[in-house]
Amino acid sequence: MPTDTMETVNPKHIAIIMDGNGRWAQKRKMPRFMGHRAGVKTVRAIVEYCAELEIEALSLFAFSSENWRRPKAEVSLLMDLFMTTLQGEVDKLDENGIKLRVIGDKTAFSEKLQQKIVQAEMQTQDNKGLNLVIAANYGGHWDIAQAVRTISERIKSGELESAEVTEGLIAQHLTTAGLPDPDLFIRTGGEQRVSNFLLWQLAYTEFYFTDKLWPEFDQTSLSEAIESFKNRERRFGYTSDQVADKRRN
Ligand code: IPE
Ligand code: IPE
Ligand code: MG
Repeated sequence: MPTDTMETVNPKHIAIIMDGNGRWAQKRKMPRFMGHRAGVKTVRAIVEYCAELEIEALSLFAFSSENWRRPKAEVSLLMDLFMTTLQGEVDKLDENGIKLRVIGDKTAFSEKLQQKIVQAEMQTQDNKGLNLVIAANYGGHWDIAQAVRTISERIKSGELESAEVTEGLIAQHLTTAGLPDPDLFIRTGGEQRVSNFLLWQLAYTEFYFTDKLWPEFDQTSLSEAIESFKNRERRFGYTSDQVADKRRN
């Protein structure tokens, strides 16, 4: 039973590590790539559902900075899938008021893919609905390092003083600038680790792990995760009594 100290509202920002595509396919004696294709269908369903629930932001981990270590053929199939999905979905995202942002080191992608990403972001930039963040060639360490590089440049040019480097300023230089930190983090596929996803941003996020493989994760699974979130008491360092007092006043 939720008490008055528990969350009653939906998370504003949900971050998901979509894991288990390969195992889903292997269980069915199919090549791993079929799992990635099936995973795209789940992405569609989850994006639609988040838009329907009027969630402010959904961040999806699509490709980590470590995933280049995979066999060349799998990496190249994943890049193709990313490209065709982007191309095929952008109009639909746009029609549904969804604003797309791709975060990660995009310089490693082909010129053509980089152009597609810029086009898709531009086409949807004025939309006011769900902020859909796709993390591709993303690493939490990389995100912090690129923020530090930009801040250092600004200090070097005299635009900024080192005393002005606050937590808020660092957050403004991360690739998620302008978005609230995730309230709910979900990882499918049974693994219980962060795998270099949004390290800074997950400081006070509620974690939810499920053994469901990503292609099996559906709208019901998401609403179960949201229910679990609503049964958490987020204390942010306060005591439970203080949280209850704050809610009453
Ligand atoms: C997640 O599924 C998708 C990517 C990392 C691109 P995996 O491909 O990691 O699936 P498993 O973990 O091998 O089952
Ligand atoms: C994390 O999944 C990255 C994505 C889902 C894109 P991995 O399957 O690559 O993570 P590890 O290597 O098992 O931690
Ligand atoms: Mg995996």
